[in-house]
Amino acid sequence: ESVDKGHYRHFMLKEIYEQPAVIRRSLAGRLGSNKILIEAMGSRAGQILKNISSVQIVACGTSYHAGMVAKYWIEGLAGVPCRVEVASEFRYRKFKVQDNTLFVTISQSGETADTLAALRLAKTLGYSASMTVCNVAQSSLVRESDLYLMTEAGPEIGVASTKAFTTQLVALLFLTVALGRHHDMNEAQEREIVTALNALPDLLAETLELNSNIKKMSNAFAEKHHALFLGRGAQWPVAMEGALKLKEISYIHAESYPAGELKHGPLALVDADMPVVAVAPNDELLEKLKSNLEEVQARGGQLFVFCDKAAGFKVAKGMNIIELPHVNDVIAPIIYTIPLQLLSYHVAILKGTDVDQPRNLAKSVTVE
Ligand code: AGP
Repeated sequence: ESVDKGHYRHFMLKEIYEQPAVIRRSLAGRLGSNKILIEAMGSRAGQILKNISSVQIVACGTSYHAGMVAKYWIEGLAGVPCRVEVASEFRYRKFKVQDNTLFVTISQSGETADTLAALRLAKTLGYSASMTVCNVAQSSLVRESDLYLMTEAGPEIGVASTKAFTTQLVALLFLTVALGRHHDMNEAQEREIVTALNALPDLLAETLELNSNIKKMSNAFAEKHHALFLGRGAQWPVAMEGALKLKEISYIHAESYPAGELKHGPLALVDADMPVVAVAPNDELLEKLKSNLEEVQARGGQLFVFCDKAAGFKVAKGMNIIELPHVNDVIAPIIYTIPLQLLSYHVAILKGTDVDQPRNLAKSVTVE
C-alpha cells in the first residue's frame, strides 16, 4: 500500500477498506489445500512449537485485545493453557513461569516500550522460547524474538489501529493451529479453519458493504457522552476493541463488558442516553446474550446490535439491528470487528475530531 490516502478522506478509512486485500496477502504462502504451513513461521517453528505446553501473551492496547481473542482460540481450539497480560503490568509483577511456556508478544510497531521491556525481562526468566506477532520486519521485537510471525498489514498510519488488529488475529489463528496439532486439534478441525480462513477476504468485503447503514446508525451516538459495548466469549475482546476505537477517535467515554457481567453493576448506568452496542454472531452463547440484551431493553436502553442474519433479532423500539453475513464461529471475531471500526469512524466524523491523529496519542508508544 502506498503511504497516501488515495481517494479516501482519512488514512483510517483507507486502512479499514484495505482489510480484505491485506488479509488475502497474509494468507498467501501460509495455507496448504487443507492445512496450515508451519514452515512459513520459520525453519525452527515446528521444532520449538511441538514442545510447548502453555502460552503467555503480552501486549498493549489493541494488540492486547488481539491476545485476548487468541486466549479463547488457544485454550478452546488447541487445548493449550494461555495467559494474557498487558505489558505494563507484566513487567512489574512477580509470577511463576511454567515449564515449556512460549512467550508471545503482539505489536503493530514492534517498538512499544512496555512490550519490548517485557520481552527482555521474559528472556531472563526461563521461558522456552519467544515469538512476536508483528507488523514491522526491522523492528526491535522481531530482531530480539526467537520466532516471528509477520502480520503483512502494510504501513498503518492512522493512530487508531484497524488492519493491524485483524491481521494479528489471522496470525494468531495460525499459531493456534500450529499448537493444536500437538494437542487437541484433529485434521478435520484444521481443515475447517483453513476453509474459514480462505473465505475470510470475501466475507470482509461483504461486511464492508454495510458501511452506509453503519453511517446512518452513527447519528445516534454523536450527541452521547457514554456508550457500553457488550459481547460474550471471543466477542468480548471484540467489544473491548470497539470501545477503545470509539473513545480514541470520538472522545466519547466507552466501556466494554462481557454481557454476563451487566447485572453485577453496569446495568445501573443504562438509560435512554446510554447507547449499548452488542456483537452477536449466531454462536452457542447467542441465547444467553439475548437475555442480557432484554435486560437492557427493559430499562429503556438503546440497543445497537450487530448480529448474524439467522440470530432472530427483531427491530423494535429501542432496538437497532445490522445483520452480518453468516460466518464460521472461528473467524467471527475478525468479521465483527469491521462494523465497530466503521461505527467509531463515522461517529468521529460527526464529532469533527482529528480522526487520524487524535489528541494526546502517538502511533507508537516508545517511552514508558
Ligand atoms: C490502538 O488503536 C492504539 N493506537 C494503541 O492501543 C496501540 O494498539 C498500542 O499502543 C500498542 O501498539 P503496538 O501494537 O504498536 O505495540
